[in-house]
Amino acid sequence: ITKIGVLTSGGDAPGMNAAIRGVTRYAIEQGLSVTGIIRGYEGLLSHEIMPLDRRDVGGIIHRGGTMLRTARCLEFMEEKTQKEAAAYIRENDIDALVVIGGDGSMRGAQALSKQGIPTIVIPGTIDNDMDGTEYTIGFDTTVNTVLQCVNRIRDTAYSHDRVAVIEVMGRHAGFIALHAGLAAGAEAVLVPEHDVSLEDLCMHLNESHRMGKMSSIVIVAEGAMKGSDVYDYIKEHTYLEPNLTVLGYVQRGGSPTARDAIMASLFSEKAIDCLLSGTYNCVIGQIGETIAATPYTEAPRYHFPLDENMYRLVHQLGR
Ligand code: F6P
Repeated sequence: ITKIGVLTSGGDAPGMNAAIRGVTRYAIEQGLSVTGIIRGYEGLLSHEIMPLDRRDVGGIIHRGGTMLRTARCLEFMEEKTQKEAAAYIRENDIDALVVIGGDGSMRGAQALSKQGIPTIVIPGTIDNDMDGTEYTIGFDTTVNTVLQCVNRIRDTAYSHDRVAVIEVMGRHAGFIALHAGLAAGAEAVLVPEHDVSLEDLCMHLNESHRMGKMSSIVIVAEGAMKGSDVYDYIKEHTYLEPNLTVLGYVQRGGSPTARDAIMASLFSEKAIDCLLSGTYNCVIGQIGETIAATPYTEAPRYHFPLDENMYRLVHQLGR
């Protein structure tokens, strides 16, 4: 191969820029030329591309978001559109495509590979919910951002004897809620992986307040339920004073942590090494201590669920 394309797709995640930089510079180092595709798969349909050299990706390693922009391209689920994109990739002499994104983006990459385009995926999503890897770029930054926010909210919850209900992202997964919850010392964490009973939650809150607790932190993963439903239920069924914060996009922005910038760089190196050695149609990932490349079709064999011990511990320690 002589020329690769790189795009970011789906929700942005801190560390995506570090990955764009890593892919571009390492590929150039190996004698390849690099084309950036703007707005993910949409850019392949609207023909928005730009050459990338070393300097184009300078000064971005520490920036959140993605300099290539991103999009959720629903059209790309249609085969006709996938064929159109593959034709455009060929017209531009792009031999292989690096896709930085989450599992929707991985499905797009897999579809393109079925159209004969070699692709490779670098996992980038704050949700940490992809098969084939224990870690996705952006997760650590988001957990740390949520932690900082919860610590601030905690000051006020403490001062006013409130129950702070905090809704966090994570789509269908509870990783952000659980990790931030354990780090922040939350009293309860509601995640989609476990049945949530608001009745039990209120019983638990009442009990701990009877035992002398004056304020509480409850973290709700958006995939479990709406923070506003938890707020309403506590308000209606207890004498406690709840307060609701929905963190929203605060969790997606900001400079990547060292872990995210490092993982982005290591994943990038692995992705390019794979393409150069003829290994493609794979997702790069951290599996145990190694950085692996797993074929898309085998990725579900490497499914990493929520840590049950952490789930138990957060509730034992938070009382
Ligand atoms: O996948 C990342 C994520 O932030 C999820 O946690 C969340 O459910 C979703 O994206 C929000 O999507 P949008 O950016 O389209 O609002």
